[in-house]
Amino acid sequence: MAIYLDHAATTPMRPELIEGYLAQLQVVGNPSSVHGSGQKARRAVEDARDRLAVTLGCHRSEVLFTSGGTESNNLAIKGLFLQRFGEDPNRKMVITAGTEHHAGIDPVEWLESAEGAEAVWAPVDTMGVIDLDWLRDFLAKNAERVALISFMWVNNETGLVTPIAAITEMAGKYGIPVHSDAVAAFGHVPIIFKESGLATMAVSGHKLGAPVGVGALIAARAAKLAVTSHGGGQERGIRSGTLSSPLAYAFAEAAALAEAERDALHDRLESFKQQIVKAVLEIAPNANFTRGDKPGFAGIIHFTFPGCSGDSLLFLLDSAGVSVSTGSACRAGVAQASHVIMAMGRTEDEARGSLRISLGYTTTQSDVEGFITAFSGVYQRAVKAGLPSQ
Ligand SMILES: Cc1ncc(COP(=O)(O)O)c(C=O)c1O
Repeated sequence: MAIYLDHAATTPMRPELIEGYLAQLQVVGNPSSVHGSGQKARRAVEDARDRLAVTLGCHRSEVLFTSGGTESNNLAIKGLFLQRFGEDPNRKMVITAGTEHHAGIDPVEWLESAEGAEAVWAPVDTMGVIDLDWLRDFLAKNAERVALISFMWVNNETGLVTPIAAITEMAGKYGIPVHSDAVAAFGHVPIIFKESGLATMAVSGHKLGAPVGVGALIAARAAKLAVTSHGGGQERGIRSGTLSSPLAYAFAEAAALAEAERDALHDRLESFKQQIVKAVLEIAPNANFTRGDKPGFAGIIHFTFPGCSGDSLLFLLDSAGVSVSTGSACRAGVAQASHVIMAMGRTEDEARGSLRISLGYTTTQSDVEGFITAFSGVYQRAVKAGLPSQ
């Protein structure tokens, strides 16, 4: 039987929302049209906005629907930078970390190459923990040159949780806006946007049981963002484009379900994580559990296996019916060593020995046992294969 342990890549659609989603698919009408059909679609979108605002602890006008996490990160990082840099050309620095998802790193690198930004890569330790003392000192010396700070809330490869409140408190002293990619966090760790101190935050539907293709940029009412995507002026003019009432409905429903189950899910996944970490370290005693004892989300379990290729493990597990991930970027079909693990100061060989097991709301005890059996069956074969030459 297939065992799916790649929930951080995408998680199955919640069965509870399918009936309502199908019903919404049959509503004809552009939510921006003034006639009755359009207004019916508009009502569904606005209901979804209200529900998401309650789930995320923000004002309804702060929820801007997008196509997902990538678009939300782009709108926020580019919008905040271009606004602040436009107001004061001294503010060209964007503080971020090499452990971010590409959807957070690549907009910053684009701003460097095209718009005169200066990326400042915050130091992180071998577990990926951001050096907050460095950040405090850096801000004390350079605050007037910083356009924005961008740190993800939960790391999608390692599960490490970032202390967002500590960061927004430091930045708030200087009026520096902070953006957070909360794609891996939403539905898994408590998020109350209005108490977070964030200016903007990116969330995505398909990581918590909505269909792929919907997300939101949560933008505080006080946040000033230059418009980087132009069109019909929907979503406060920041995200133009026709709104999808079925996707908005499904996102709000999935988010509410995930939030209602969050504590119970956490307890279940924590027990599964402990079983997996213990079993893997017994089968592969030289493996490193990446996060160690650092605060993390139970659903993401990351190991490096010295001298063993994560890709070999992935393919052998796949042929045993278990879907996991190496966590590495696979761009244009070419597997690459994880930039996240290398940004943590690990070598390329260590990064190539990565395996990410990610759990979700459908994970059962039998999935955990099936994974452990499959892993013990394939591990020695992966060790014998070693690391491929580069
Ligand atoms: C942390 C993080 N940010 C952003 C994204 C991109 O989100 P989306 O697939 O909704 O564009 C992902 C998805 O893998 C992610 O894990």
